Amino acid sequence: MSDSPSPAAPNAAPDTAPDTAPGPKPVRTARVFSAIQPTGEIHVGNYLGAIRTWAEQCKAQPETGEDLYFAVADAHAITVPHKAKELRATIDRFVIDLLALGVDPARATFFVQSDVPEHMELAWYLSAVTPMGDLSRMTQFKDKSEGQDFASSALFTYPVLMSADILLYRATVVPVGDDQLQHLELARETARRFNHRFGKTFVEPRARMSKATRVGGLDGDGKMSKSKGNTLDIFADPKTFWNKLKTAYTDPARLLRDDPGHPEVCNIYGLHQAMSSPEQQDEVVRNCTTAGWGCFDCKQMLYANFETELIPLRDKRASLKPDDAREMLRAGTERARSVAAKTIADTRKALGVGYVRA
Ligand code: AQP
Repeated sequence: MSDSPSPAAPNAAPDTAPDTAPGPKPVRTARVFSAIQPTGEIHVGNYLGAIRTWAEQCKAQPETGEDLYFAVADAHAITVPHKAKELRATIDRFVIDLLALGVDPARATFFVQSDVPEHMELAWYLSAVTPMGDLSRMTQFKDKSEGQDFASSALFTYPVLMSADILLYRATVVPVGDDQLQHLELARETARRFNHRFGKTFVEPRARMSKATRVGGLDGDGKMSKSKGNTLDIFADPKTFWNKLKTAYTDPARLLRDDPGHPEVCNIYGLHQAMSSPEQQDEVVRNCTTAGWGCFDCKQMLYANFETELIPLRDKRASLKPDDAREMLRAGTERARSVAAKTIADTRKALGVGYVRA
């Protein structure tokens, strides 16, 4: 699937701009939305699967002209039991971490979700066109509710809020890892259903997959994920980072040696694909299939590449102060609110709700 925008002048109209002018149609550029929930620590899976691509999109924005929206999805974080003080601290940390990792508020509308309450209002409206059957098929709900004494109805309707996050900005492109594809498909269907019943109000977004759509967990058991406790945290101190990487699951059955055509059987090779040059990747395959290297050597090369990338990001993180970060998000929050207010007004009108403010 190609999602690359057409070459366009910087800040050209996004896909959603009304196009009623006579003459050639203006070139349309993507409007991009993506978010991360502030729980735990940002890990290598979040970084390679999502945040690094956000940073790349910010860097390229003057050339692509894309209209970028990135958010810290704090309302999603309350779908599981939480402590208010901890969540407040995690939001502060996530904003600083994301700024350090390259999310640029001068080039993207960067904000914290609950500062734009329209997300929650739209989620309610969208829940009226979302079948319960669809929600009960969501694998994330099954995974997170299984074996819990308390599973909130918010956890069940989490995908409706995610649809609202995306549709509120009439985003055309959503960068996601493959764990979120099911939710994105629901957002697309919700847009279709709503438009069919109430008139064209929303845009159907499409996925933009990163090169690392599914980073494996350190234990070799499926995807790297906070709830599985198998993560490599991106801002762990270098010693902890190396100690965790050093003990990560590799390829104990030596499948790679038996079938060198499929280096991806080893979890660590997947990380090399995201972090190492093509020449280094060839070197990894050559040495790991001939037993020229042990896993330790292979991991050392990977660690060195992580260090090269992370040192400046750690420095930037250390220089950012919470009050400055809050200031940096102020304009983005206002911008998000004004775009959101327009979508909400259109949605209310389409649904026929409201009275004094209708
Ligand atoms: N392992 C992964 N590989 C590639 N991409 C990943 N993402 C998450 N894990 C991987 C991508 O990160 C973005 C933010 O995801 P999120 O808000 O769903 O983060 P999360 O749910 O807190 O991440 P976890 O670790 O998966 O948490 P739990 O275990 O709580 O569900 C998304 O674009 C996602 O695709």
